[in-house]
Parts: sequence; structure tokens; C-alpha cells
Amino acid sequence: MCGIVGYVGRQNAVPVLLEGLARLEYRGYDSAGIAVVRNGSLRVHKQAGKVRELAAALPKRLNGQVGIAHTRWATHGVPSDANAHPHLDMSGRIAVVHNGMIEDAAVLRRRLEADGISFSSETDTEVLAQLIALEDCGDLEEAVRRALSKVHGAYGLAVLDANQPDRIVLARNGSPVLIGVGERQMLCASDMAALVRHAQQVVHLEDGEVASVTADSFSTTTLDARPTVKTATSLSAEDADYERGGHEHFMLKEILEQPDAIDATLRGRLDTRFATSRLGGLNLTARELRAFRRVHVIACGSAFYAGLMGAGMLESLARLPASAEPAAEFRYRNPVIEPDTLYVAVSQSGETADTLAAVEEIRRKGGRVLGIVNVPGSSISRAVDGGIYLHAGPEISVASTKAFTCMAVAFALLAVHLGRLRDLGPADGERLIRGLAELPAKAAELLQHQDEIVQAANWISATPSAFYIGRVRGYPVALEGAQKLKEISYIHAEAYPAAELKHGPLALVSPQLPTVAIVPDDELLEKNLASLEQINSRSGPVLAVAHLPLGSLADRVIQVPKSEPELDPILLGLPLQLLAYHAAIALGRDIDQPRNLAKSVTVE
Ligand code: F6R
Repeated sequence: MCGIVGYVGRQNAVPVLLEGLARLEYRGYDSAGIAVVRNGSLRVHKQAGKVRELAAALPKRLNGQVGIAHTRWATHGVPSDANAHPHLDMSGRIAVVHNGMIEDAAVLRRRLEADGISFSSETDTEVLAQLIALEDCGDLEEAVRRALSKVHGAYGLAVLDANQPDRIVLARNGSPVLIGVGERQMLCASDMAALVRHAQQVVHLEDGEVASVTADSFSTTTLDARPTVKTATSLSAEDADYERGGHEHFMLKEILEQPDAIDATLRGRLDTRFATSRLGGLNLTARELRAFRRVHVIACGSAFYAGLMGAGMLESLARLPASAEPAAEFRYRNPVIEPDTLYVAVSQSGETADTLAAVEEIRRKGGRVLGIVNVPGSSISRAVDGGIYLHAGPEISVASTKAFTCMAVAFALLAVHLGRLRDLGPADGERLIRGLAELPAKAAELLQHQDEIVQAANWISATPSAFYIGRVRGYPVALEGAQKLKEISYIHAEAYPAAELKHGPLALVSPQLPTVAIVPDDELLEKNLASLEQINSRSGPVLAVAHLPLGSLADRVIQVPKSEPELDPILLGLPLQLLAYHAAIALGRDIDQPRNLAKSVTVE
């Protein structure tokens, strides 16, 4: 979704800001803009379309040593030049870029219009720019604080004042803002991606904080002007994490990175001596962990499917009733929060608005919540009681692949950990720790052979619709496989528990409708084969992702290395990512930025 970048220093801000915007493109956007201060006045350029189009349209000599820029994903008002950020106050002195949503913008706008203020966009952000200008007191930070005390809503903000060209003022409430500390220069951004090249250290603003940033220093206060103390930490990400590294798409790079990403999630966490996993960040004692009677997972989209997979692992290994629910449903059904339920919030970005709100709801009602999160320092990682970082590295492609897989691996670690505190015996503990340790090599082996998958993808790309089926452990694999195909190839795909076919969907099975079946070699093999027979007898084509060759029951089989049964779903998902990727390639889709989707959904 929207992205913010700002620069104050001794270089020309324009190329730094454009490079930062390019780094934020992966989040999804529909317009972009930039503002710099030059000779005491603001120079603003903004337009609908891509960052490269904005760059091409800028005057050759545009420069300034302080500036802010933005990629916008439309919420208030259509994507257009006028609605693109930065937004200015009526006099053209204050420029604002904003992520989030001001809830009372319409009321405030009417009031301001009645006072003679004229607007040039439909956005809530312009309301903020006007309010900040009206609060002018010669101190931009104070004007921002006063203006923000008059609005309700979520924001990450960067503000420029042509009269105070040595600084950018930032504020955060519910939408991330980071300060990047460099040598005699400072950056700010909503995402680490825009900071890595020029900053050595990072500072995360908290909700309710305002910062004033100059080339050499920064200071922070609360909204009521009480100073706060911040510590800068080293930037953990590297420039190369945000490059395609010779691959055509980030999605392919991230799929192929999975052996290393799984290895990183496992690193230091496999305890062979006690046949368990070591999870230092849970912040819960063994006694507290033993006292939980059930687990409830909350997440959105693919992270929710990883949660379903995790709930299955927790139930079978820790023998705790475990369930998963979309966070947006959970937060609005006034959930009963039970003290003996362990809640687990799952998120790659750590910024998904619905998941964050669900975490806050649980905490407000006294529940304990762990996070399974990829982005260090993200809002969800800071809102939870403890958790497990994925350490999968930045995920740039909108379609989640390595983060999804590592979420499943983190759940396996948690399930073994809780299991070993309860009824899971040492022999099973050893078996699973060994199985986990073998995952990176098996994933690497699987990813080496893409030819069959490419052929299957070409075949599936010729159909308008596909079924995905799986049973128990295979069902979340099917759900995520269908999700991948939908989001990047735009082929309609539906996932069903395999046995549900005969209760309705079988009516659609025909030679024109392929079914992708997840067929592990486990205790449900016979049942899964029976479902394939039902499809065969209606002449439905079958592509199986399986451990065994399935003879005439499947038209095509992609064979996957066998793991321990409880861990099998982790590897069974990998060919489905490649299937979706190659189908989307065959159809000429925009792989890394699929239509209508954003990487990090920070609004409802
Ligand atoms: C799909 C995808 C989304 C995300 C969802 C949650 O490939 O990436 O469905 O899984 O938007 O995002 P996070 O994990 O950042 O909370």
C-alpha cells in the first residue's frame, strides 16, 4: 500500500527520493509524487502512474537538500494527479505525505471550507495540510502536534515547511514511520526498503510520537510535547535483499530462496539434546505454556492459511485443540477472550491492519498473544507478548511464498515445543527435529526440477478455472495453492476439502475443469485416491502433487520428497507456488505487482 520516503542532508534529495520510491513500488500503488524545498519555496510534482513516469516528467534541474515523496494506493478519492501526494495547504507552504486514513476528514473539511479554505483534491491528507498551516506558530513540530490533536484516525506522516527548510517533521499513529540515520544525512520512510542504501541505523517511531529530523540529528516527543528517548539500532536488512539478484521476478527469487529461508527460521532453534525446539522470544515460562488449554490463530490471507496449517500441527503434536480465523472476522465479532487460550497472530509484514487490531482486542481483554512475524520491529511484533521471528529476509513480491513457508516452519517449531512440554515423547521429538533439520535440503532438491511444473503450468494456463483439493493436512496446502494461482495468473481457482467434492462441487467436474490434488503418502492416502477416482469417472483431468507416482489416477504428477507426516504440508506447497508462477508467466501477467493487490494491507 502507500509508501513514504523523506530526505534531509547535503546531497540533492531528488535522486535519493526517486530511488526510495522505486524501492517502495513492490507495496502496490497507483500514483506517486515528490516535494523539495528550493530557495524558500516548495517544488511539487505528482501524477497518477508509475514512479518511472514521474521521474521522466521531472524538470531536469529539480533539486533541493530536503524533500518528501510518496507512492499512493487510493482509498479517499480515485487515483489521479490531483489526489496523488504530497498535498499542500492553500498557501502552498506546507507539504504532507500520509499513509493511513483520517476518519473525521469529511467533517473537518466541511468546517474548513465554511471558513473559506479551498481544496484541490478529494483526499483526507489535504485536510491535514490545511490544519497544520492554520496552526502555524513558527515551530513546525508544534504545529503538527496541535493539528493532530484535532483529528481521529491512523497516520504515518512526513511534513515539510518551506519556511523551515532544514527539517522534516514526522508523526505516527497506527502506520509505521522509521528514521534512517546516515552520515550527515537522515532519511525517513514507512518501510526499511527505502532506507537501506543510505542509512546505517534505524529508529522506529511509536504510536503517538512526533519527530523532528534535521541532517545531523533528530528529536522525538509525545503528542502532548513530552520528550521521548529513542535508541537507534543497526539496519538488519542489506541492499541486496531488495534486488532481484539476476532473477526475472522477485517472486521467483523468493521461491528459490526458500531452502535458505527455512534454514534461517530453524537456525539456533533445534535442540537435539532434549529433542525439542528452543524458542527464546516467547516470553512465557514452561509453566505458563503448559497451562494453556487451546490455541487460536488469527491472520489474513496466506498468513491465515499458514495459520490453518499451524493449527493442524499444534493439534496433532501438542494435543491442544487449535483453530484459525481470519483476523477481520475475529475483531468484529466481539470475541470471548479466554485466559487459558494461547492466541497466535501471524503476519509477514507485521503491519496488516486487521491482524494488528485483532491483537489489540485480545490484549485489551487480557489475553496472551504470540506473534509469528517476518519484519523485525514491525507494529505487530511490538504489540504482542512474545513470539517467533521468521528471519526469512524481506519479501518483496506481493504474492507471499517464502514467508508463507517459513510461517509453517515456525508453527512446526512451536508445536514441537508445546508438544514436548506436554505429551509428545522424546522419540517423536527426535523424529520431528530431524525432519525439520532435513527440510532445507529437501526443499532445495524439489526446487531443482521445474520442467514438469512448467509443462503443467502451460496446461493449466489454458483453462479459465481449476479446483484444488486436499484433506486434513493437505487442505491448507490446497487453499494456499489456489490463492497463488488466483492472485498472479487471474485464473479462477477454488479449494475444497477433498471429501467435500461429492457434496456439491463435483457437479462442475468435467474434461474442461482441471483439479489439482494434494496427495501425501500418509494415513489418508486411500481416501485421497478414492476422491481421484470420483474425478476420473467424470473425465475430470487431474494434476497431483504427491509423494508417490499415482499410475493412471492422475494425468500429471509432480513428485515431492517425503518428510515426517506432520511436516509434509510444508514441502507440498512449494510446487504450487511454481505452478502459479509459470502459469502467470505463460499468460504474460505482472508477476510481482498483480492487479488490485498491495503487499502490506495497512487499512481496513
Ligand atoms: C497473498 C498474500 C496476502 C497476505 C495477507 C497478510 O500472497 O501475501 O494474502 O498473506 O495480506 O499479510 P501479512 O502476512 O503481511 O499480514
